[in-house]
Amino acid sequence: FLDTAVIDEIRIVHSWGVLDGVTTNPTLFAKAGGGSYPEVLEEICGITSGPVSAEVIADDLEGILREGRTFAKIAPNIVIKVPMTETGLTAISTFAEEGIPTNCTLIFSTAQGMLAAKAGATYLSPFVGRLDDIAQEGLDMVRELSAVLEIHGMEAEIIVASTRSPRHVIDGAIAGAAIATVPFKVVQQMIK
Ligand code: G3P
Repeated sequence: FLDTAVIDEIRIVHSWGVLDGVTTNPTLFAKAGGGSYPEVLEEICGITSGPVSAEVIADDLEGILREGRTFAKIAPNIVIKVPMTETGLTAISTFAEEGIPTNCTLIFSTAQGMLAAKAGATYLSPFVGRLDDIAQEGLDMVRELSAVLEIHGMEAEIIVASTRSPRHVIDGAIAGAAIATVPFKVVQQMIK
């Protein structure tokens, strides 16, 4: 997946035939400029039919559900990105009951990932780069989470997130994660 809200970057990587989906967040959207967040999401969904993550900014249950249900109406490939919190878990399980796919974001431990998978998250986003930033081995979490999902036949898929280098993408794949979400620059580094 491409981790961006910049339309040109999405078009370019799509043209290379290697784009399976896109993840966005409020920070990436703010950096990209352009129209409103829903307008940008709609444009992205017009480029790729793969999963497109739209992140909620509310932190109360009603707000998260309202934003998520609104985003879900934009296109059939929208996935609601919900932060890993107690309220987030409730929202994820509610969305799961409603058949709305979710991406549990800001996962910083295997235990958090297990809970998100149990709540019914479609995707789990462990933030490897941010753990590396605080001198922890981010990929260890991906290895553990991947093993837990495999051993117990849980359906959630790991998206290796906060990837900063091709090494993260490679090691995430070897650890068993089928997906990494990657900044445009890192995809270019993979080519070079
Ligand atoms: O995929 C999550 C990402 O957008 C955060 O990346 O590099 O700011 O930790 P980073």
